[in-house]
Amino acid sequence: MAHPVTRADVEVLFSAEEIAVRNTLLAKEIASTIGNEFVIVAILKGSCVFIADLLRALYHEGAAPEVDFMSLSSYGDGMTSRGVVQVVRDLQVPVQGRPVLIVDDILETGRTLAHAKDLIAARGATHVWTCVLLDKPVERAANLSADFRGFECPDKFVVGYGMDVAQRLRELPFIGWVRPR
Ligand code: IMP
Ligand code: MG
Repeated sequence: MAHPVTRADVEVLFSAEEIAVRNTLLAKEIASTIGNEFVIVAILKGSCVFIADLLRALYHEGAAPEVDFMSLSSYGDGMTSRGVVQVVRDLQVPVQGRPVLIVDDILETGRTLAHAKDLIAARGATHVWTCVLLDKPVERAANLSADFRGFECPDKFVVGYGMDVAQRLRELPFIGWVRPR
């Protein structure tokens, strides 16, 4: 097996401080657009750190969202998408008749978010918004753009702040890109 990717292979792309500033502004945008009462559907596992920070930033804007999680998987163990989206863990809260904000880490081909959006809309949500921490427009396949986004991301494989390479490096407090070896 190849030697695992470590911190030494990673260059900082967005610092913890930059992310915190961006989250505050994102929360303001979200609360002024959606209001205070809505359901957040966070897509696991990649959004785990982002949603924890975004949720607290939303509190400071007066929002009181209900939060639930959904696990969707489109990647195998490596750095390339398999292109097929699977629901690995489904929601528990009902979304029928309620406004929903789907939160994910990265919008790349758009297949993951398009799948989640269709699913939530089919269950009768009154409106479905999407928020992504990173937008990678280069690889877009689905006709979709996020309503709220943290940063535009270069076409590089990124890790940290919840995002992984083969389940590693989610713990990095910043967002970095993996230098090819
Ligand atoms: P999409 O379905 O192609 O838009 O892929 C989105 C999902 O792929 C994200 O939710 C991530 O989990 C994963 N992903 C895409 N690019 C990266 C990356 O650079 N690093 C880690 N995960 C990624
Ligand atoms: Mg993901």
